[in-house]
Amino acid sequence: MGQEIKCASMIEKNKLENLSVLVKRAAKEAGKVHARYFHQDIKIETKGVSFDLVSSVDRDAEERIRELISDDFPDHNILGEENGPDQKGSEFTWIIDPLDGTTNFIFGLPFFCSSVALVYRNRLLAGAVYDVVHDELFWAVSGQGAWLNEHKIIVSSTASLDQSLLITGFFYERGESMIRNLEIMRHFFEYPVRGIRRLGSAALDLCYVASGRATGFWEFQLNPWDFAAAALIVREAGGVVSNEFGKDIPLTETAYIAASNGLIHQDLLHVLQSA
Ligand code: IPD
Ligand code: CA
Ligand code: CA
Repeated sequence: MGQEIKCASMIEKNKLENLSVLVKRAAKEAGKVHARYFHQDIKIETKGVSFDLVSSVDRDAEERIRELISDDFPDHNILGEENGPDQKGSEFTWIIDPLDGTTNFIFGLPFFCSSVALVYRNRLLAGAVYDVVHDELFWAVSGQGAWLNEHKIIVSSTASLDQSLLITGFFYERGESMIRNLEIMRHFFEYPVRGIRRLGSAALDLCYVASGRATGFWEFQLNPWDFAAAALIVREAGGVVSNEFGKDIPLTETAYIAASNGLIHQDLLHVLQSA
């Protein structure tokens, strides 16, 4: 976190402003693609495992975001969920999930978003997550705070796990990790926590922690595009994002994500480690 502030201060003020404007604009433009096709007939395919769906909307939204970035910053690296990495040797990398919550989208369930993060020298510089259905743009700039549209957000002040509302997610693979997650849920219910939700969009789930709508979140095996932007938003809102052992998470690989308002973090990790 300290390093993130330092990293933002290394960028010229005007350039940082232009970059963060583009981060938000890209997320919103992807939202326009979502709005155009929500509740319409769209092309759907499966990815690696049969539960992991991808649609023409995922691809169109990613194309739109890539177009916007390349127009202004053609030399920046891009890592997008659908088209993979585009390495140009730049110190800047954009990490994109063009549609987070694809299964919800396909079923007509109005809980999905786009997610755009900008990384400078391996540190998160800015991030935006846009939910077009509710017209909610969550965003943050390193060292400057986090916002929901034009309102500053902070995490909840709930200090105990038994007063907490938690969110979790299930990876598409239905083997070991699913069984382990069910076991963890049982531990939380026995604790007991106030409630557990499975909403279906990891990026929005994390933003709900950032804005105090939930107290904590955990999920095994999230990809950088699922959590990069939202991890910055949670931290800038005063929360904590780590792996299950409380360590920092790399932005280059699949990770176990535990996020909270900070006040319940040790208790959250304790339960996660016990199952
Ligand atoms: C998925 C969603 C879901 C989470 C999965 C992710 P996608 O992303 O974030 O909530 O549980 O692990 O893969 O496939 O809709 O972009
Ligand atoms: Ca995703
Ligand atoms: Ca996606």
